[in-house]
Amino acid sequence: MRSERTAEDRSPPLQASVSVLEPKPADGACVTPVPSDPCSIVILGATGDLTSRKLMPALYSLYRLGRLPESFLILGCGRTPWSDEEFRDRMAAAIRTGGGGDLNRWPEFARRLYYRSLDYQEPRSFIDLAGRLAVLEAAHATAGNRILYLALPPALYGPAGRHIGQAGLAAENRAGAGWVRIVLEKPFGSDLATSRRLDGDLREHFHEHQIFRIDHYLAKETVQNVLMFRFANSIFEPIWNRRYIDYVSVRASESLGIEHRSGYYESAGVLRDMFQNHMMQILALTAMEPPPRFEAELVRDEKAKVFSALRPFPVQAIDDYLVLGQYDAGIVDGRPVPAYRAEEGVDPHSLTPTYAAMKLCLDNWRWQGVPFYISSGKRLSKKLTEIAIQFKKVPHAMFRNTLEAPISANRLILGIYPHERITLTFQTKAPEARVCLRPVTMDFDYSQGYSGPMMDAYEKALLDCMLGDHMLFWRQDGIDLSWAFLSPVLSACETCRAREQRLYRYPAGSKGPAERNRLFR
Ligand code: BG6
Repeated sequence: MRSERTAEDRSPPLQASVSVLEPKPADGACVTPVPSDPCSIVILGATGDLTSRKLMPALYSLYRLGRLPESFLILGCGRTPWSDEEFRDRMAAAIRTGGGGDLNRWPEFARRLYYRSLDYQEPRSFIDLAGRLAVLEAAHATAGNRILYLALPPALYGPAGRHIGQAGLAAENRAGAGWVRIVLEKPFGSDLATSRRLDGDLREHFHEHQIFRIDHYLAKETVQNVLMFRFANSIFEPIWNRRYIDYVSVRASESLGIEHRSGYYESAGVLRDMFQNHMMQILALTAMEPPPRFEAELVRDEKAKVFSALRPFPVQAIDDYLVLGQYDAGIVDGRPVPAYRAEEGVDPHSLTPTYAAMKLCLDNWRWQGVPFYISSGKRLSKKLTEIAIQFKKVPHAMFRNTLEAPISANRLILGIYPHERITLTFQTKAPEARVCLRPVTMDFDYSQGYSGPMMDAYEKALLDCMLGDHMLFWRQDGIDLSWAFLSPVLSACETCRAREQRLYRYPAGSKGPAERNRLFR
């Protein structure tokens, strides 16, 4: 019987820290690049939450760090009729309340901020936008390079992409214009068919190389570190396979609930919200083969191969591979919270899962026979995101006559949240006692020996988009493969007759439904 316990759940092994050796990078090798191309950044949906909470603070922070190009402008667009001044004032207020740094440099930054009201359903409105943008681009000498950020409800992605294209805003390298990139965030459709439809809409006017599909998990430092850890060290790769690894677990537990997003979450549920994107990316980074070079397309090729190797989900034996749950009322962080069904905007009989644990298998040479346990849920006891690599037990128990307890196997944890760290647990001899083992943990804290600024996920994504680097973004083939795996699971779950019985209730603040343990057998 396996258990989903992490090193943290058990009585803690002795801690031993590791020291960071002075890095000796080649001159300039570790410096964050600054985009050299001037550009305009057009945000569609500039009156929304994403813009004030994430995008504007990220852009301002990049500016303060000297990581925006010399010439740039930001044009916010939204339905609300704001003036440039009003937009600037609201963004300044958002940064002030969000603690996004001091506003000393705001006046010079704000001089490059503009606003234009836009009707997303009205083609004419986009033609007017193109006119205003051309004037601003000439004034700021941005050479026609453009980022179009869709901070919009997903239902508007298709129409907005179409109108942008029809207004001539998507065309690259014509009449002296430079590059044009469009940025959007999940959900990329709600199943394989709708995702392909969205892609079809975008591809009418944009080429794949122009599309930047964000997954903010990829921009997390520790998630990026998975590839460095695996492929820049020779000691882990030889044991990173079915000969030495018993199982892999990836979990993303959250203590938060749905946070006023019932409209979206009710139709998404945890499988679409977390599994189709973030969990799949972590799985791919953990399981992929080394690419020949660290280049975006080569890395994305290897990830696509992992998705192709996913064993089709055995929908006939769904209970052996998937446990779904939904939270009831409970206590989280010491305060009472309502049940999912009592959240504002949620159907009181909702069957939307807020928790899922899935066992999946990869049919390839490296991973044959190694289960991957993926789990994620809302309103659990604490927020914890980690990848755990559980190694096999020693092949021969030579201490069996002298030890009472079985020897626990090695475990490597790549912690993503709250501790950005790597821990490796192994056995050592207890001092003095004749034969007595004790598990110890080597612990590397990611921020150890580093005091520079840490870039937030949106800063990283925006910067990479300006640099034209697709490494941290989804490619459509990956999305298709991920949906091809999950769509049958979703339709099996959503159409099965025992849907209600298969949705296990768990109290908020717990570890999820107890039934999750049956997957680990
Ligand atoms: C988002 C999901 O993509 O990721 C949210 O839509 C979830 O439901 C969030 O809460 C988790 O992100 P993080 O960075 O807080 O782990």
